[in-house]
Amino acid sequence: MSRGLFIAFEGIDGSGKSTHARRIARETGALFTFEPGDSELGVQLRELLLHSKVALTPETEALLMLSDRSHHVASTIAPTLAQGRAVIADRYLASTISYQGYGRGVNLDLLWRATDLAVGDVRPDLTIVFDLPVEVAARRRAPRDDDRFERSGPQFQERVRRGLLEMADGNPHYTVIDASGNHDHVAAQLTAALSAVGLM
Ligand code: TYD
Repeated sequence: MSRGLFIAFEGIDGSGKSTHARRIARETGALFTFEPGDSELGVQLRELLLHSKVALTPETEALLMLSDRSHHVASTIAPTLAQGRAVIADRYLASTISYQGYGRGVNLDLLWRATDLAVGDVRPDLTIVFDLPVEVAARRRAPRDDDRFERSGPQFQERVRRGLLEMADGNPHYTVIDASGNHDHVAAQLTAALSAVGLM
């Protein structure tokens, strides 16, 4: 049996990717999953990562994200792909490189090496970057969204955005879509990107 397609959805906070990721999974029969936190262990790590009262160093934060991912790959993503089913991940390794690397300043080379340890060869066939200006994303975010990342401010989100665009630049496994428009505009770009890899 051939391995299922693995698609990651990425973007700054408020980019709207989660709504589309869930919809596409419903429409295609792919497994929808997210990080951090979509496992029994992940629930505990997510609480630490988003709401810890303890100050985390950027490196500690990165290693907790990667612990969550490593467990998530082994428990859910790899077995699902091995059954031939597609997986749609709401955030994956590009989130760690952009948030902890570009955003918080963790050494990028070390972060990529730690990522290798966490995920092995379980890499997305396609990573879709939902790109939009930081101020547009900020207006879209629900007022209840108030975790450690949302509180890091617009300059942090700018660095994350730049990181995602730099990773995507010239990389055939990435597609950047314009997420500043309305739902239908985004949906049309997504359909085109996913048709190109055979998911839709
Ligand atoms: P979440 O509420 O799931 O946000 P979203 O709906 O935008 O995905 O919160 C996840 C937060 O964790 C988000 O601000 C991005 C951050 N994050 C990292 O900093 N590094 C990572 O590796 C991952 C997976 C997420």
